[in-house]
Amino acid sequence: MHDRRQFIKLASIGSAALAIGCGADGSVDQKPAPTRTEKSEGPLVLSTWRHGVAANAKAWEVLRAGGNVLDAVEQGVAVVESDLTNRSVGLGGMPDRDGHVTLDACIQDHEGRAGAVAFVQRFEHPISIARAVMERTPHVMLVGAGAERWALENGFAPRDVEIPEVRAKWQEWLKQGQYKPVVNIENHDTIGMIAMDAQGRLAGSCTTSGMAFKVHGRVGDSPIIGAGLFVDGEAGAACATGVGELVIRTAGSHTVVELMRQGMHPNAACKEAVRRIIKQNPDMTDKQVGFLAIRKDGVYGGFSVYNGFEYALNTPDRTELVETAFDRKWA
Ligand code: GLY
Repeated sequence: MHDRRQFIKLASIGSAALAIGCGADGSVDQKPAPTRTEKSEGPLVLSTWRHGVAANAKAWEVLRAGGNVLDAVEQGVAVVESDLTNRSVGLGGMPDRDGHVTLDACIQDHEGRAGAVAFVQRFEHPISIARAVMERTPHVMLVGAGAERWALENGFAPRDVEIPEVRAKWQEWLKQGQYKPVVNIENHDTIGMIAMDAQGRLAGSCTTSGMAFKVHGRVGDSPIIGAGLFVDGEAGAACATGVGELVIRTAGSHTVVELMRQGMHPNAACKEAVRRIIKQNPDMTDKQVGFLAIRKDGVYGGFSVYNGFEYALNTPDRTELVETAFDRKWA
């Protein structure tokens, strides 16, 4: 894990949020969350990690052309799904412990309509299948072989990808066969995107190959509405990144949106969601989780367990990579 930490960039670019300390027992301190108000009347796009820069550029292009915010969040993250050098999203991602790359994704709009797929193999754009599930079925989520068959029947073409570097890493991992799923390799993970258009309509998307070397069949938070993503046009939008199990157990993104509904600042809402995770999991060694949020009035922010969680930001005035405030520094 030490090597991984070498990747964590302590310096941030642009307007970094404030760092928040923590108690020796790992609890979040009682200092107020950073309340510097970052606001955009829209359009506005936030997405997780450095790979969000390319995703935001696409989403921004869609919004600037007057496009639909749902198109923006779908086409934005699809850029990262197509990047076969990315090891945590799309078909270039790391495999599970049986050597299979399995993908999870979801999408949600301003009205709360949602679509998701989980545990799908051999499709380049799970985010587009998720959107099609939302638009063409009465259901929210399809999984595994059923999702793959439905995708085939609905015009999605499978794609086989073999990446020698990925295969070699899996074979190296097999030598020890130690079951220790890894998240946030090289300081990135899921891409979650939340956006608001010029009319104040919200949408979000989330897509990932999940934890490297996970149990075959494991599904993380990313395709689960309320965990990896939640959008409610009356309150706001939030997305999550990091160890999915911790986010699912706390319904993380739903928590953030509900707290914003009560008027909480997005930074404070994300900080509270992180606090609940830490409270449930006193030993957070090597377990990163981060949240991003947009409140319906265009105020936005984020918070993470550890430093190094960056998000890509696009507003009419800013195109930046920003580091969120955090609870603690990597030891
Ligand atoms: N957050 C991605 C996962 O846990 O699969």
